[in-house]
Amino acid sequence: MKILFIGDVFGSPGRDMVQEYLPQLKDKHKPNVIIINGENAASGKGITEKIYKQFMGLGAHVVTMGNHTWDKKDIFEFIDDAKNLIRPANFPEGIPGKGLTFVNINGLEIAILNLQGRTFLPPIDDPFKKVDELINEAKKRTNIIFLDFHAEATSEKQAMAWYVDGRVSAVVGTHTHTQTADNRILPKGTAYITDVGMTGPYDGILGVEREAVIQKFLTSLPVRFEPDKKGRNQLNGVLITVDPKSGKGIKIERIMINDDHPFMY
Ligand SMILES: [Fe+2]
Ligand SMILES: [Fe+2]
Repeated sequence: MKILFIGDVFGSPGRDMVQEYLPQLKDKHKPNVIIINGENAASGKGITEKIYKQFMGLGAHVVTMGNHTWDKKDIFEFIDDAKNLIRPANFPEGIPGKGLTFVNINGLEIAILNLQGRTFLPPIDDPFKKVDELINEAKKRTNIIFLDFHAEATSEKQAMAWYVDGRVSAVVGTHTHTQTADNRILPKGTAYITDVGMTGPYDGILGVEREAVIQKFLTSLPVRFEPDKKGRNQLNGVLITVDPKSGKGIKIERIMINDDHPFMY
């Protein structure tokens, strides 16, 4: 079975790329499950119900989030009704939303988890302790387990992947917005990539208008970060093949669509 994951969709340029290319990716790869990270989908910060529904309408089964989960106030109105929207599971207990969901595709169950790292990010609960709990819960229903680990430090992402090797089908890193070339299958059968990369502006800086970011580095003065809408766009993702019985990752291929790599995978 195949899982298509699309990395951090950033503002309207990112949403436009999903709209344009997701149908082509579906035709080409015939994924059974489609997962989109939507933490930056609404003007670079957060998500709205309208955008969540747009992703679902385009064929996504699950939308994952990250440190920008709460940036659009709209989230508090719909997160508890949005069955297939998940946010990092190691946020403090008792707040809205959840970090684990299941989808059923033609009788086959897939567990999708979302966790966030703690290195160079706001302090939250231990993702390593939390992942053990979530795996135990997921294993009651399925061997096919997918984790979006939203984290800044490469070391923390690698540590998570090795920690869960053989217990989950795939660990994909998100948040740093630049695709890494280290996609591999770990020895016990977990597909891994440190960062999937982002979907949206290609000529901005991590999606943001580059003039503002450069100005910030030059002056250290406060600047307003807006999605870059003047330049070209990109889409980054991964396609993961999983053995449906054992839940082991078999293959992980990178997808990179931009003017320099028109349709790389
Ligand atoms: Fe992001
Ligand atoms: Fe993030």
